[in-house]
Amino acid sequence: MSGKLKVEHLDSSTQEQLTALFKGWNFASFGDTGCIMPTTYAYEADNFLNMAVRPDDVWVVTYPRSGTTWTQELVWLVNNNLDYDRALKSDLGHRFPYLEKSLLVRLDLVGLAPEQHQSFDRPSYELIANAPSPRFIKSHIPLSLLPANLLDAKVVYVARDPRDVAVSKYHLSRVLLNYVGDFKTYWNLFVKDLVLYSPFFPHLKEAWALRHHKNMLFIFYEDMTKDLSSVIKRVASFFDKELTKEDIAQLCQHLDINNFRKNQAVNQERFLNAVGTKGETFIRKGKSGMWREHFDEEMRAQAQSWLDENLADTDLRFPTHS
Ligand code: A3P
Repeated sequence: MSGKLKVEHLDSSTQEQLTALFKGWNFASFGDTGCIMPTTYAYEADNFLNMAVRPDDVWVVTYPRSGTTWTQELVWLVNNNLDYDRALKSDLGHRFPYLEKSLLVRLDLVGLAPEQHQSFDRPSYELIANAPSPRFIKSHIPLSLLPANLLDAKVVYVARDPRDVAVSKYHLSRVLLNYVGDFKTYWNLFVKDLVLYSPFFPHLKEAWALRHHKNMLFIFYEDMTKDLSSVIKRVASFFDKELTKEDIAQLCQHLDINNFRKNQAVNQERFLNAVGTKGETFIRKGKSGMWREHFDEEMRAQAQSWLDENLADTDLRFPTHS
């Protein structure tokens, strides 16, 4: 089935504010939830919405900075006989392409040399159209902007406390989106749903509504940080794979933040070095609750009422583990 997406321009003062903070970027809002994407998404949105899904596709879909990379590596290994050799040799971006990457890496803004442009200058839905099955696909696009039959494939959706997401996303936005403001300004845009891939709550709620579907596995970052082996077991069972105790222990080791940070196949170090790190790393603290170090009293109160308001009509709750 094909569909056409609603595109709306932001009002001029919002547009101006965003362009001043995200140097060189222009955003518009898309679809019924008003998802904030670069204006260039307008040329591609229908192609993402109508791309062909294969029943044996494996997707990881998240709001950014929710533990996507960590989950991708876990999902890929579970589905590839725990082939650590290949996982360590081949970049995760090749094994598990980022669907809308070409729209988010602005070649004119980042410092990539022309010979490094190749994998960024065509939409991944074209690059993966003829890839052998099973395809592994990462996307941050909300479900409502992805094909309506996405759940013909298996989808793992990861959610995380938005306060930690905002801190993490602020840091990466400094590098990838030329963000020049401070964190408090970023947070104010975040709660107003004016940052890339927002609105946050509709993104999660669309997936939460489908959490009992046989082809949807909904997991929380907080549960991964608290008890990774339990989440590994859930992922293995979702994909009908058997893992021994030893397999799980080895996988926990491989996925441990200290190993992950050093793992060049997942840590995006080469890419960040090429575009200029501004002192940031892609794999950062890897903890839950770090937002407390970044929120003053006013932001804490604002966050609490924003959470209360948005959680009032749902049983979605972010796990708190003491
Ligand atoms: P922090 O910035 O809070 O540390 P994504 O992959 O969706 O962009 O998510 C990035 C977040 O996941 C970052 O959060 C990153 O540090 C964290 N992360 C990545 N690998 C991890 C791991 N092995 N263990 C725990 N957290 C991890």
